[in-house]
Amino acid sequence: MSRGPGVVVVTGSSSGIGAEAAVQLGEHGWTVCLLARRPDELLAVAERVRAAQESSGSTGATVHTYPVDLTDDADVARVVGLVLDDHPRVDVLVNNAGRSIRRPIRESIDRVHDYERTMAVNYLGAVRLTLGLLPRFLEQGQGHVVFSSTMSTQLPIPLFSAYLGSKAALESFARSLLAEHGHHGVTTTTVYFPMVRTQMSGATSIYSAMPMMDAHRAGRWLVKGAVDQPTRVTSLGGAMSEAGMSVLPGVLTKVITPGIRRMDKRLARRARRMP
Ligand SMILES: NC(=O)c1ccc[n+]([C@@H]2O[C@H](COP(=O)([O-])OP(=O)(O)OC[C@H]3O[C@@H](n4cnc5c(N)ncnc54)[C@H](OP(=O)(O)O)[C@@H]3O)[C@@H](O)[C@H]2O)c1
Repeated sequence: MSRGPGVVVVTGSSSGIGAEAAVQLGEHGWTVCLLARRPDELLAVAERVRAAQESSGSTGATVHTYPVDLTDDADVARVVGLVLDDHPRVDVLVNNAGRSIRRPIRESIDRVHDYERTMAVNYLGAVRLTLGLLPRFLEQGQGHVVFSSTMSTQLPIPLFSAYLGSKAALESFARSLLAEHGHHGVTTTTVYFPMVRTQMSGATSIYSAMPMMDAHRAGRWLVKGAVDQPTRVTSLGGAMSEAGMSVLPGVLTKVITPGIRRMDKRLARRARRMP
């Protein structure tokens, strides 16, 4: 199904993929609600969205900023109230805010808080906001929720256990939401991004030497989720890996993980040579 422009809420839109998606949705004539913690960055993205809305000649589309910490129950309840008061109809929620942690499990023995922190934003933040908007979606008889996940849940990837656990939980929530409310008009898209050049991936120095998708192109994947509303947006490699893992998980893990370790070593050597 393809949706014409309406009202979209995009979390994690102060930078990276979420900011690019918000601007592109503005170009398509959507009214855009920007959510993240940093108010100044949200205002800067709002300016870009407004310019995109104006240059595409869309009439009536507006842009709104809602600074919020998605790990804070009361703060999310406050912002849900504001969004619902400001917009009689909300068509799409894009749960894109996230944080990543790259650390071996052996170095996480005294760091359960790593697992709590990733769950707090990536899983519970998205669940909080979805639950806040769900009554409105059900009242409308329509609502679509897009979830930003990662290709790394489709493959056996080492060093990201806290991050990937939270994304796997998020994917499972998306499946449950669709199973329980798809027939009430509440649908979902899960987006499985490959590596994307943003502040998040930039936090790991070896990734400076890795070819990656740019944030503008990744933003188009979220737009596809919001507009075309397929159940899944993924790469061919991601879909094939997922199929392979469901049939031969042990064999694929043995084959793939040494390759990833070798790639990390190569990237580290290349990153050291970079200016
Ligand atoms: N980059 C990649 O390689 C990659 C690959 C696969 C999946 N993804 C996923 O894509 C999504 C976007 O990531 P990105 O790469 O664009 O990274 P990014 O630029 O670091 O964006 C992360 C966004 O999340 C927001 N955020 C973080 N904690 C928050 C909190 N407690 N409350 C509200 N907002 C919060 C940040 O805004 P504030 O700091 O202003 O709050 C920021 O807008 C994430 O879900 C990520 O897991 C990224």
